[in-house]
Amino acid sequence: MDIQELHRRIATIEADVSAALRGLATADAVRGLDGVMLGKAGSLGSLIASVKEYPPEQRGQVGQAVNSAKQRVKEAIEQRLRELQTADLKSEAARAASFDPTLPGTPQPMGGVHPVTAVQWEIERCFERLGFTVEAGPEMETDYFNFEALNIPAAHPARDMQDTFWLNNGMLLRTQTSPVQIRAMKKFGAPLRVIAPGRCFRYETVDASHENTFHQVEGLMIDREISIPNLIGMAETLLREVMKREVKLRVRPGYFPFVEPGIEIDMNCQICGGNGCPTCKHSGWLEILPAGMVHPNVLRAGGVDPEEWTGFAFGLGLTRLAMMKYGIRDIRVLNSGDIRALTSPRRLGSVFVTDVEHNDR
Ligand code: DAH
Repeated sequence: MDIQELHRRIATIEADVSAALRGLATADAVRGLDGVMLGKAGSLGSLIASVKEYPPEQRGQVGQAVNSAKQRVKEAIEQRLRELQTADLKSEAARAASFDPTLPGTPQPMGGVHPVTAVQWEIERCFERLGFTVEAGPEMETDYFNFEALNIPAAHPARDMQDTFWLNNGMLLRTQTSPVQIRAMKKFGAPLRVIAPGRCFRYETVDASHENTFHQVEGLMIDREISIPNLIGMAETLLREVMKREVKLRVRPGYFPFVEPGIEIDMNCQICGGNGCPTCKHSGWLEILPAGMVHPNVLRAGGVDPEEWTGFAFGLGLTRLAMMKYGIRDIRVLNSGDIRALTSPRRLGSVFVTDVEHNDR
C-alpha cells in the first residue's frame, strides 16, 4: 500500500470508528469496539503490524501516521466512555429524584377465604369452645365405613337415599361425613366430642341447589345420659353463632338408619326471612341439621358399649349454611372458581345472591 493509500485507509477507519461510537449506547459495547479496532486482527491493528513491511526510509513517516491515528481512535473511545458514564449518572439521579417513598404502593388484589371455608372455621371455633375436637376422614372410603358400620347393610333400601360414585378399586367417594363417626369412636373411645368437617360426593345432576361435590360437618357427642335436649341446645348455639342473629328452629322427626330416634332440625329461611321463596321451596324453612340419638348398632361398630353410653350425632349441611349466611342462591357458584365468590359474593349479582344482610363480608 503506498503512503497515499495508507492515509486514505486511516481516514476511513477513523470515520468508521466515530460512526460506530455514536451508535453504541453502553460502556461494554464501546469497550468491545476498542478490542476490535486496536487488536492485531482489527483494521488499525493490522496497519500497525504492516509498518515493518515498508522500506526503512518510509517507516518513520508511516509509523507516525499509524500511531497518531491509533492515539486519536483511543481518545475517541475514551471520550465516548466518559459521555456514557455521565449520561448514566444523570439518569440515575433523575430516577432518584422522581422516586417518592411517601407515596402509597400499588395495591395488590387480595384473595379471600372461600365462603364454605369461612363458615367451616367459624363452626370449628364454636365447637372447640364447647370442648369438641376436629377430625378429618378420607374422601375415598370403604363401603364398610360409609354404609355398613352406619347400620346400612348392603341390601338396605336406605342406600337409595344416596347416589354414590363407586370407584374401580371397590371403594367409593364418601357420600357423607358420617363415616368419621366410626373412625373417631375407634380412635378415641368414649366419652367423645368430635366434629368432622369435609367434602362429600354424590352422583347428582347439578342444578341451582344440587352439587355432586359439597361440604358437611359431622358432629358426635358420646357421654353418659346424653339426650335430645342437649342436641337441640347445641344446635341453637351453633346456628345463632354462625348466622350472627337469632334464628328460629323447628324440629321434626326424620329417618336416618344410624340414629334412633332421628330428627330434622330446620332453620327459618334466611333468604326470604320465612315468607317463602324458591330456595326454601316456599315453606319458609330449610332443612339444615339432620340429627338424632346414635343407634346402638353404630356405637357397637365403633367399639362403644351402648349399655353404658349414649350419644347424639348430626350432619350439618355446611355448603347450604354458607349459602344461607352469604345469601348465595345458586350452589354452582361455590365450585365455579369465580373469584367474586371468594372476595365479595354480593358482586355476583342478584341472580346468584340475595341482599340478605351480610355480616362480615
Ligand atoms: N349423613 C346424613 C346425610 O348426609 C346426615 C345425617 C343425619 C348425619 C343424621 C347424622 C345424623 O350424623 O345423625 O344425609
